Order: sequence, then C-alpha cells, then structure tokens
Amino acid sequence: MSAPNGSSPGEALELDDSLSQCPHELYRGLHASGSGVQRVIMPPGAGPWSGLPVWLVTGYREARAALADSRLSNDLARTTRLFGGGGGGGEGGRGAFSAALSRNLLHADPPDHTRLRKLVNKAFTSRAVQRLEPRIERITADLLDQLDGVEETDLLVSYASPLPIIVICELLGIPASDEDDIRGWTKGLVSGASRTDMAAASEGIGAYLTELVAGKRAAPGDDLLSELIRVNENGDQLADEELVPITFVLLIAGHETTINLIGNGVYALLRNRPQLERLRADPALLPGAVEELLRYESPSSHGTFRSTTEDLPLGDAVIPAGELVLISLIAANRDPAHFDAPDVLDVARPPTSNLAFGHGIHHCVGAPLARMEGRIALGRLLERYPHLALAVDEADLSWNHSTLIHGLRSLPVRLNG
Ligand code: HEM
Repeated sequence: MSAPNGSSPGEALELDDSLSQCPHELYRGLHASGSGVQRVIMPPGAGPWSGLPVWLVTGYREARAALADSRLSNDLARTTRLFGGGGGGGEGGRGAFSAALSRNLLHADPPDHTRLRKLVNKAFTSRAVQRLEPRIERITADLLDQLDGVEETDLLVSYASPLPIIVICELLGIPASDEDDIRGWTKGLVSGASRTDMAAASEGIGAYLTELVAGKRAAPGDDLLSELIRVNENGDQLADEELVPITFVLLIAGHETTINLIGNGVYALLRNRPQLERLRADPALLPGAVEELLRYESPSSHGTFRSTTEDLPLGDAVIPAGELVLISLIAANRDPAHFDAPDVLDVARPPTSNLAFGHGIHHCVGAPLARMEGRIALGRLLERYPHLALAVDEADLSWNHSTLIHGLRSLPVRLNG
C-alpha cells in the first residue's frame, strides 16, 4: 500500500491486501491524514471491484452524511456500468438469477425502496423478533451441549456459524434439511469469491428460492416468508418476482454478518481479557458490550457501495456524478474525531451511535434480531466456558478476503483454557 500520509489529495491510493488483513492500521493512517474521503484503487483480491477507482469514505461525519444523502444511489446496476448497467451491456455475462436477485430493497432507491421497505417492515415486526428469543436460547444451549467434552474447536464452525443460519432459516420457514445448501451458496456469494463463483451460487440459490416462494404461496405457514406473501398495504402486495430477491437479501444479510458479530466479538474479548472478565462479572453490561463489539470490530463490511447521481461535495472532496463510493463502516466506527480512544475496547463505553447497522433509509432491518442473537450467543458462551482461550497465536489467524464482510477465516479456541 502507498503511504496514506504521503498521498496528495488528487492522487488515487492503490490499496492492497491490507484492506482485508489489517484494515485498522490502514484506516488509522487515513484518519491521521485528516481527510475523511480519499480516492483509491480497489485491491486485486476485491472480487468484482478489483482494480476499480472508488471514493473511499472513512470519516464518521462524512460516512453518516453520505448514508443519508439521496444524491447517492444504491442501484449500482442502473447508475453505473457495473453489472451490465449504465445503459446497455445486458447482464454482463451473468445468469438470469444474478440480476434478478440484486433487485431487492438494499439495491433500490426511492420510491421503489420506500414501498418495499414499508411492506417488509409490516411483516418483520419487533413482535416477530421477540417471539424468537426462546428459540435462540434453545438453539444456543443445544450447540453448547454438543461441545461438552470437547477441548479444542473452531468456534466459527461449531458455534458462530450454525446459530444464525438455523435462526434465519427457521424465521423464513426454510426446512432444516436445506441449511447446508444455503450455507454453501452464501459462502460462494460473500467470501471474496470470483464472478464465476458468485454467478454459480446466485443460480443455485435463485432457483431454490423461486421454488420456496411458490411452495409457501400454495401452502402458507407461520413464518416470515408466508407473512411477506400475506402482507397488504392499502391493496399493495409483493409479487413473486419481488419476494424472491427480498427473501434472498434477508437470508444473506441476516446470516454472514451475524456469524461475524459473534466470531469477531469473541476474538476481540479474548484479546482483551480484562474486558472479558468485566463482562462475565457483570452480565448487565451485555447489551452495551454488543454495541461496543459492533463498533470495535464491525462485521458489516469494509463498506457499503453507492454511486453519485450528481456532483457531490463530501468532506473536503467534490465527487463527480457517476462515480463509485465505498462508505467504510469499519473506518467510521474508529474515527478519532468522533470516538474517544477508538482503538480501545470498553464494554462499558457510553452509547456511541456507531454505524455498524448503517444509517438512513437502508438502516438494517434485522438489527434487533442480530443484537438479540449476539447478546445470547456471547452471554451463554462466557457463562459456560469461563476459561475460553485462543488455541493458536494471533499471528496465525487471518481474515476473509472480502469487501462485503469483515470476519475471520477460522477461530480455533481451547474451551477450558
Ligand atoms: C441492511 C449490517 C444483520 C437484513 C444493512 C446495512 C448494514 C447492515 C450496514 C445497510 C447497508 C447499506 O446501507 O447499504 C448488518 C449487521 C448485522 C446485520 C452488522 C449483524 C450483526 C441482519 C439480519 C437481517 C438483516 C439478522 C435479517 C434477518 C438486512 C436487510 C437490509 C440490511 C434486509 C437492507 C435494508 C434496506 O435496504 O432498507 N444491514 N446487518 N441484517 N440488513 Fe442487516
């Protein structure tokens, strides 16, 4: 990586592996340079974004402003040449489902987004989330029971991954027997995969969800997907070609991120033992600790992509129309201009309004569910295994090569110290 401090304002900074492997070091340098917005070239390992010039937003103030700015579009297929958009280019060689699945609320702008979000909010209520609490407790207890007698385990495989996948599948009414397929497709989509892998995974999951929606329409159940089919706002209802991408985004967004809330959270606590002990001694700190872990090691992603629909003044830059913008939630959540001692993990930190769940109209639909899963998963694990410890040197751990998620590849632990 070229040194951030040394780059002149107009010069694009070429990013390398440090974007995924040591993001905090990279972002510390960018924060120190005093600019909350920087032109960069995406690193070779960034999947479909590799080599693209992007405006990287790292300042908290700039990120929050950008997330709420209607001159930034989430509909990249329409507003850029990416993915066959920008006026021609067809599907850019992708299969039918790749394009169809991306037509979901996360990639829509108002007024389409407003309509879809209203309908989703009507089905995905806080009551629906509250109802899941006993199930999440039960699934967590079962997963911990399965670890009885085990000395060492990869906690991502045995605990952090199964919980969110079981929960989201149960929520949507997906049979348990299909969870392995879902897991495989999700991995193909988010773990720094190539365009070909992503297209293959999209085809698999697209065909699966099309059948699932048809099945629920024929025989509705007591689940969120059936509720999404039933939901009605002044006569307006979701069509099948809308339900498939909505189910897709709920499944993907609700799964890999939550795994990393648990995985990154456990890792951060193991590296900050006094904070772990403090939390164990006072479980009332748990809800605040989850917020602090979301801030400190944000699972969401290095950022969320937007494109400018007109020239946009942001921080001390003016971003021309039609450019790609990457709003880095990880960077914003450790901006020293907004957070005191941002690199310190403090489970008793006063509420901070971190940006891990985004901000503005696309603010995460599943935040209450993710917070509940995080609180139960971390709380019960620390109760059951007070002497939990890393089983390898920190230097042997590595992060996924992904711009979409910030999560470890594995988390080997000794359960009893
Ligand atoms: C949106 C993070 C869990 C469903 C978002 C956004 C972020 C985020 C940052 C905004 C993206 C943007 O502005 O471009 C997270 C994190 C999670 C989590 C860190 C876990 C720790 C969940 C869960 C679900 C979910 C459990 C569903 C069950 C969604 C959906 C959107 C979204 C549907 C799109 C909302 C819209 O465009 O209006 N999430 N999420 N997420 N999230 Fe989450």
